[in-house]
Amino acid sequence: MAVPERNHNLLILFLVLLVNDALCIRFPDRVARPALDSPDQHRLRVAVFALGSFWRSEAVFGCLPGVVRTTVGYAGGSKSNPEYRSLVDHAECVKVEYDPELISFRELLDAFWSSHDPRQVYGQGPDVGNQYRSIIFVNGTEESRMASVSKEQEQTRSRSSIVTTQILQLGTFYTAEPEHQKFELKQNNILLQLIGNLPAEELERSSLATKLNGYVAELCPPNIQKRIDSKINDIIKKGWPILRDL
Ligand SMILES: *[C@@H]1O[C@H](CO)[C@@H](O)[C@H](O)[C@H]1NC(C)=O
Repeated sequence: MAVPERNHNLLILFLVLLVNDALCIRFPDRVARPALDSPDQHRLRVAVFALGSFWRSEAVFGCLPGVVRTTVGYAGGSKSNPEYRSLVDHAECVKVEYDPELISFRELLDAFWSSHDPRQVYGQGPDVGNQYRSIIFVNGTEESRMASVSKEQEQTRSRSSIVTTQILQLGTFYTAEPEHQKFELKQNNILLQLIGNLPAEELERSSLATKLNGYVAELCPPNIQKRIDSKINDIIKKGWPILRDL
């Protein structure tokens, strides 16, 4: 049976991807570092939120236009150097680095409220425990005021149950262990391969990985989710460069 060349290439692409663990192909840095990774770093701001499992929290913010980078970690408690297995009084958090000219703290707050149930006590969804509590970390009085106003608005939406979200001044943010960073993206070997199998430290800093992490969890805004879908389909349709002769 004649296999059209294009489908043939596609087949080979999938075979290559299937054995990617064994081959461990590395792309040149040119491919691994998109332009997005080097915007004017100086104007970036930082916001930290706790809204349940940080695997999901990271994906919630990663795809929002203006968010440059996300990192998961621990904050809100007093234990120094917490670890995943011994958080004590810390909460699982996501640190969001964003460009305030493209997205505001207020818009990040909107995403925060619409992405979890702040009325749930001692947990979030199926995750039970103090580490999954809801917290807005603020830096200074202006952010503190905005957080309080948005919490009051959230409370007026439901009179029967209390919005449990805490508002805390940001203290130390402890970056979580590498295996928890971009957790959603790490479930998708094909996408990891497409961005060049970045080593852990690069993956943690990569804006591209930040977006794809949201995409894999299907938490991007619908128009962005669609745009990424079509881009990835384009790449797959074009097939893979194949060495046929020497
Ligand atoms: C808090 O805000 C100040 C002033 O905008 C800034 O210099 C500082 O880096 C911020 N701290 C954090 C942890 O983002």
